[in-house]
Amino acid sequence: MNTPILVELTYLASAILFVVGLKRLQSPATARAGNALAAVAMLLAVIGTLVETDVATWTGILIGVTIGSLVGAVAARTVQMTAMPQMVGIFNGFGGGASALVAVAEFLNTRQSPSGIAGLVESLGSRVVESGVTSDGVTMLLGTIIGGVTFSGSFIAFAKLQELMTGNPITFPFQRSFNALLFLASIAFGALALGVGDVGDPVTMFYVFCGLSLLLGILLVIPIGGADMPVVISLLNSYSGLAAAAAGFVIGNMVLIISGALVGASGLILTQLMCKGMNRSLANVAFGAFGGTAGVDRSQIGKRPVRSADAEAVAAELGYVHSVVIVPGYGLAVAQAQHELRKVGDLLEARGVTVRYAIHPVAGRMPGHMNVLLAEADVSYDKLFDLDEINDDFANTDAVLIVGANDVVNPAARTPDSIIAGMPILDVDKANRVIVMKRSLSPGFAGIDNDLFYMDRTLMFFGDAKQSMADLVRAVRELA
Ligand code: TAP
Repeated sequence: MNTPILVELTYLASAILFVVGLKRLQSPATARAGNALAAVAMLLAVIGTLVETDVATWTGILIGVTIGSLVGAVAARTVQMTAMPQMVGIFNGFGGGASALVAVAEFLNTRQSPSGIAGLVESLGSRVVESGVTSDGVTMLLGTIIGGVTFSGSFIAFAKLQELMTGNPITFPFQRSFNALLFLASIAFGALALGVGDVGDPVTMFYVFCGLSLLLGILLVIPIGGADMPVVISLLNSYSGLAAAAAGFVIGNMVLIISGALVGASGLILTQLMCKGMNRSLANVAFGAFGGTAGVDRSQIGKRPVRSADAEAVAAELGYVHSVVIVPGYGLAVAQAQHELRKVGDLLEARGVTVRYAIHPVAGRMPGHMNVLLAEADVSYDKLFDLDEINDDFANTDAVLIVGANDVVNPAARTPDSIIAGMPILDVDKANRVIVMKRSLSPGFAGIDNDLFYMDRTLMFFGDAKQSMADLVRAVRELA
């Protein structure tokens, strides 16, 4: 078999493995294997590319792969679970940036004689240009603008989540009209770069087009509140896939087109699921300037009396009943209390209590956040129940233990004028006894009070989740 066919077959195997890997991410039980398959697919794609590429550039590629792998491995090992959204965000940014660079290099190469990176560098100084609109030219522009927007937008998302800049929406008068004009200007400069109208030097027009793409990414993300960044990151992830697919068309690489399309489509589906979980439209996330704290009156939050209980009292509430549902939330992730929580669950089960975990689709700060946490603590998947599966059971549940969750159990979602109106919530207030474990009566992500805390059948179990769960483990052990 000759080399080109072998390379194509490698690409085909890689594409199939990407699809199967993605499919396996559907369930927590098969997700790890899915991830491993996708990693093998990526390895095959890299090998295919190495074989296909001119041998002279191997050293450069290998140096790049080594540096990239080292950075990836160190980041994956050291980054805190709660900082995962911004890490994904910055990786998306690099993906988008890389695709944009491929499109930029090809654009400049097709308009000037030298090829490869050397050509790109050389081309930055020269001005020899051919004109004419071709589908290739349009694809290069698409790759550049989508990749550029993804790159700069992802860095703004990272800066907001890392609190390097304000998390509040940054708005100014006529912002949307200004952004629309900027977009139209990008299209105009793109057309000029392709030689339409023969106005100005196309390469100069192309550089302006690149600059406008980067500016557009910044301006599209700054009006979105830091709290909505996970949705933005998911959307930018989808864009990075589209940019990669465009880059694949530009350089005629099948595996890049397929993998880019998969990332683009799955990122978009994930974005929609997140919006649905919050009962918000994508337009509301993108243009609603939601999540700012400025102008919100919080003076009345947490001012009403509550009943509180210590670990011994909570253990007694949970240890002598038939059924307990545990609801994890963002605070569990912050405190890294998942291992202690699992011990509580195990001890209760050993006492004959039926223990289940209710997973809200947007609990925490990233999709699947609670699944990942509980999987890390080896909680068996068959004990995890989605909102739809468990919501009807709360009325027949003896006790609910909520650990570091707030908005996802806030009955205000049933009130039409609430900021979270219509958001699907876990109906924990229907259970016989509700125990809420958190540090204070402070609000969660949405910044609003929670009537659940003040109900007659609610007990507040105050403290840091890790310490409180450790205390609860001890208290359940001491039960008769
Ligand atoms: P939140 O409503 O954000 O509430 C988390 C609670 O955890 C806080 O009220 C906080 O109260 C408590 N907490 C923080 N640190 C703690 C610690 N060390 N120990 C114990 N408790 C601690 O969380 P949720 O119920 O999981 O809801 C998630 C929110 O994020 C939703 O509004 C959702 O729309 C939004 N969101 C989610 C996603 C995804 S994909 N998951 C994406 C974007 C937005 P104290 O300060 O009193 O302790």
